[in-house]
Amino acid sequence: MGANNMLLCQIFFCVISFITTLAQETPNNSSIGTASVSSDTQLVSASSLACAAIQLDLGSSVVEYSGSEYSATVQGPWSLFNSLDRPTCIVYPRAASHVQVAMSKIFSFGSQYAVQAGAHSAMVGWNSISDGVLISFAHMTNTSYNPLTDTVTVQPGVHWGDAIAAVEPYGVSVIGGRASDIGTGLLLGGGISFISPLYGWSADSIKEVDVVLVTGESVTANATNKFSDLFRALKGGANRFGIATRYELYAAHTGTKEDKDWFGGSIVYPESSSVALSNASARYIREVTDPKAGLIVLMQATNLTPVDANVIIYLFYKGGSLPTNIFGDFLSIPNTSTSLSPLSYYDISNLISGSGRGNGQQFGASSWTGDEATFLNGYNHFMNFTRTFETDLLAADLIISPIPRSQWTANKSRGLNAIGDPGVAYAAINFNLIYPTGVTVIPERVNAGFQLLLSQASSSPGLPLYINECDASQNVFKTYPNFSALQKTYAKYDPSRFNVRHTAGLIGL
Ligand SMILES: Cc1cc2nc3c(=O)[nH]c(=O)nc-3n(C[C@H](O)[C@H](O)[C@H](O)COP(=O)(O)OP(=O)(O)OC[C@H]3O[C@@H](n4cnc5c(N)ncnc54)[C@H](O)[C@@H]3O)c2cc1C
Ligand SMILES: *[C@@H]1O[C@H](CO)[C@@H](O)[C@H](O)[C@H]1NC(C)=O
Ligand SMILES: *[C@@H]1O[C@H](CO)[C@@H](O)[C@H](O)[C@H]1NC(C)=O
Ligand SMILES: *[C@@H]1O[C@H](CO)[C@@H](O)[C@H](O)[C@H]1NC(C)=O
Ligand SMILES: *[C@@H]1O[C@H](CO)[C@@H](O)[C@H](O)[C@H]1NC(C)=O
Ligand SMILES: *[C@@H]1O[C@H](CO)[C@@H](O)[C@H](O)[C@H]1NC(C)=O
Ligand SMILES: *[C@@H]1O[C@H](CO)[C@@H](O)[C@H](O)[C@H]1NC(C)=O
Ligand SMILES: *[C@@H]1O[C@H](CO)[C@@H](O)[C@H](O)[C@H]1NC(C)=O
Ligand SMILES: *[C@@H]1O[C@H](CO)[C@@H](O)[C@H](O)[C@H]1NC(C)=O
Ligand SMILES: *[C@@H]1O[C@H](CO)[C@@H](O)[C@H](O)[C@H]1NC(C)=O
Repeated sequence: MGANNMLLCQIFFCVISFITTLAQETPNNSSIGTASVSSDTQLVSASSLACAAIQLDLGSSVVEYSGSEYSATVQGPWSLFNSLDRPTCIVYPRAASHVQVAMSKIFSFGSQYAVQAGAHSAMVGWNSISDGVLISFAHMTNTSYNPLTDTVTVQPGVHWGDAIAAVEPYGVSVIGGRASDIGTGLLLGGGISFISPLYGWSADSIKEVDVVLVTGESVTANATNKFSDLFRALKGGANRFGIATRYELYAAHTGTKEDKDWFGGSIVYPESSSVALSNASARYIREVTDPKAGLIVLMQATNLTPVDANVIIYLFYKGGSLPTNIFGDFLSIPNTSTSLSPLSYYDISNLISGSGRGNGQQFGASSWTGDEATFLNGYNHFMNFTRTFETDLLAADLIISPIPRSQWTANKSRGLNAIGDPGVAYAAINFNLIYPTGVTVIPERVNAGFQLLLSQASSSPGLPLYINECDASQNVFKTYPNFSALQKTYAKYDPSRFNVRHTAGLIGL
C-alpha cells in the first residue's frame, strides 16, 4: 500500500506537468505522446500517466490500482488466459461521463486499454490488459423497461440473465444470449439468441446507443440520425468503433415466467449418433424456415484421453409441442436422455448459465450452408483434431447455431447491421477448445493444429464469419459483404486509428 501511494504521488507530479503541456493539443498519434513521456521519465508509462490523470478527475473510488474489487475484476474473465493480465489501473465508471474522461486521457497519453462488460470473450486480451487501462462496467448494470416507448434500456455491465429477470414481470424480454452469464458485448458482435429466428440478431434489437469515441466525445447513434453509419458499424464491428455506454433495445413480447408458450429443452445422444446428428443438422439448416423453431447442437469431446464424445442439443418451438416436420430427425435418432417440457422464454434463457471459470479457452469460427458433406467434413476434421491433441485439451466442442433467413428479415425495418445478409440460410459454427487448468498459454503446436482445422473446416463460399465466436487469427471483417463501407466508417470516426493501435480486438480493419 505504502509503495503504491508513493508511486502514485510520483505519477501525480508527472501528470500535473504533462497535463499542462498536453491538455490542449490532444495528439493524434499516440506514439508522439508516449515517446515524449518516456524520454523524460523512464519509469512512467503512458498507462500510469493516464491512470493518474483519470484518478485526479474522478477520484480513487472510480480508479483502482489494487484491492479486493480490483482482484475480483482481474479474476473475472471466463477464459483463464485473460485473468492472468494485470491492468495498470481499473476504471469503474458510474456514468457515461466517466467513460468520456477515461477515454480522453487514454487518448491524450497514448495508453493501451481494454473494455470489459460480461467478460465472456474467449479471445486472448480482448477484455483484459497488462500495462494499460481496463474500463470495467461492473458498476453500470441497470435495466429498465419503458412501456411508453416499449423499449428496455440496459447499461453495458448487465448480464443477460439479470436483464431478462428485471423485465420479465412486464411480460417483455430482450434478445440476449443463450447462456445467462453472457454480457452485452454480445450486442456489438451480432448476437445469436434462441428467439433470433423470430426477432433477428440481438444487435438488430438496438433502437439507439450512446457511444464514447476514442477522443472522449460522446454521441447518440440510431438508424436514422446523422450517426446512422456508426450505428450500423457498431452492430458487428465489436469493440472497434467506440465504447457503448447505454443501449436502448426494442422489447420482445415473450410473456412472463408463468407464460409457458414454448415447448422444448434438451436431448443428449451417444457418440454413435454423431453422424446421424451431423446429417440432421445440415438438413435442418437447409429446410427449416419456421421462425418459431430454435435449435443449438453441441458436438462435444469431453474427458479427453481417450476422447469420450457425445452430442447435446437444445431445441424449442413456440407452441405446445415439437413439430415432427421440423424436429423429426432429432426425435428419431437414438438418445441417452431427454428433458422436454412446456417452458416460458424466461425458463429457456436460464437453461444454460455458462458461468464456469478456471480454464483457458479458445474459439474459432466457420459458416456452413446446409449440406451433409460439408458438415461431415467439418465433424471428421474436428474429431481428428481432438484425438491428435487429446492430452493437451480438457475438452472441445463443435457448436452449430442455425442462422435462418428470418434472422435477417425479421424486424428488418429497424436498420441494417455490419455483418451483411449473404442471402442464404447457414449455420454459424463455433469450435471451442478448453485447456486443462494448469495451462496458461495456448501451446504453439495445438494452435498450429487448430489453424489447420479452421482451414480444413472452412466456410462455404460467400458466408460471413461470426465475430463473437472467432479465433484472434481470423479476419472476420473481410468476410462481411460491405467491408469497404465499414472501413470508410472506421476512418471517419477514428482517423488516427487509435483503437486498432491501442486495444486488442479483431484484425484487418
Ligand atoms: C459460455 C458462452 C456462451 C455463449 N453463448 C452465446 C450465444 O448464445 N449467442 C451469442 O451470440 N454469443 C454467445 N457467446 C459469445 C458471446 O457473444 C461473446 O463472448 C461476447 O463477446 C461476450 O460479451 P461479454 O460482454 O460477456 O464479454 P466481454 O469479454 O466483456 O466483451 C466482449 C468484447 O466486447 C467488448 N465490449 C464489451 N462491452 C463493450 C462496450 N460497452 N463498448 C465497447 N466494447 C465493448 C470487449 O472489449 C470485448 O472485446 C457465448 C460465449 C460464451 C463464453
Ligand atoms: C505515428 O507516429 C510514428 C512516429 O512518429 C510514425 O512512425 C507512424 O507512422 C505514425 N502513425 C500514424 C498512423 O500516423
Ligand atoms: C435504473 O433502473 C430503474 C428501474 O429498473 C429506473 O427507474 C432508473 O431510471 C434506472 N437508472 C438509470 C441511470 O438508468
Ligand atoms: C433517432 O434520433 C432522432 C433524433 O433524436 C429522432 O428524431 C429519431 O426519431 C430517432 N430514430 C429512431 C429510429 O429512433
Ligand atoms: C449421412 O449423410 C450421408 C450423405 O448424405 C450419407 O451417405 C450417410 O449414409 C448418412 N449417415 C447417416 C447415419 O445418416
Ligand atoms: C429417447 O430415447 C427413448 C428410449 O429409446 C425413447 O423412448 C424416447 O422417445 C426418445 N426421446 C426423444 C425425444 O427422442
Ligand atoms: C418484430 O418481430 C416481432 C416478432 O416477429 C413482431 O411481433 C414485431 O411486430 C416486429 N416489429 C417490427 C417493428 O417489425
Ligand atoms: C489430423 O490432425 C493432425 C494434427 O493437426 C494433422 O497432422 C493431420 O494431417 C490430420 N489428419 C487429417 C486426415 O486431416
Ligand atoms: C454498403 O454500405 C453503404 C454505406 O453505408 C451503403 O450505402 C450501401 O448500400 C451498402 N451496400 C450493401 C450491399 O449493403
Ligand atoms: C490526425 O490525423 C488525420 C488523418 O491522418 C489528419 O487529417 C489530421 O490532420 C491529424 N490531426 C492532428 C492534430 O495531427
